[in-house]
Amino acid sequence: MGQGSSMPSEHLGRVYAAQTPQELLQVYEEWAAHYEHDLVGGLGWDKPSKVGETLLPYLSEQARILDVAAGTGLMGHFLHGKGHQDLSALDFSPEMLQQARKRGVYRNFYQHDLLQPVPLERNHYDAVTAVGIFTEGHLGPEVLPTLKDLLKPGGLLAFSLRDDLEHLYEAALQDWRLETKQLFRDGLEARPWSAWVVRA
Ligand SMILES: C[S@@+](CC[C@H](N)C(=O)[O-])C[C@H]1O[C@@H](n2cnc3c(N)ncnc32)[C@H](O)[C@@H]1O
Repeated sequence: MGQGSSMPSEHLGRVYAAQTPQELLQVYEEWAAHYEHDLVGGLGWDKPSKVGETLLPYLSEQARILDVAAGTGLMGHFLHGKGHQDLSALDFSPEMLQQARKRGVYRNFYQHDLLQPVPLERNHYDAVTAVGIFTEGHLGPEVLPTLKDLLKPGGLLAFSLRDDLEHLYEAALQDWRLETKQLFRDGLEARPWSAWVVRA
């Protein structure tokens, strides 16, 4: 997620300012029903589809995909629209997952905190998507090993990352092979960001 100069949504300001995972969870619980109205409708949030487009050329038709920090399921909606069926959603917010469930595009829903041990099968997914999560008040590079464990060897991780935060991820990304990095300068962002696809 990125930050513009104005804060049109009270919740957007609060997620950036969150000091603890519990505080962040509380804001998403309250925001879930209005998240898309505020972000997509109000601010043109389109990172899920941009990251999805960047990932598509690397995905096989039958790919088993886990969307982490799935939120209301914008990534699932995009990938399902492109013919992908084997989609699962993970998020720590029951209310965000409830919104995602309404889309009817995910097969499985997992309510887990990515900062805790994730009780899902290891070496299981062909691809993991993580959009809008590596940012202030949210998660950092410490989560990358967890995501790698969930992937099959050679599996793909697709994520969004603001370019000015990239230096914080350099060390952790040494363990991955870069497939592509697509720079975007427009949209909601006040600063450039990139859609990354890396391989475990
Ligand atoms: C900015 S939203 C992004 C949602 C979706 N990926 C999108 O692009 O619209 C961030 C999501 O991360 C989830 N989240 C934040 N911290 C988390 C954690 N520690 N474990 C699991 N989910 C988390 C929130 O509940 C929220 O749904």
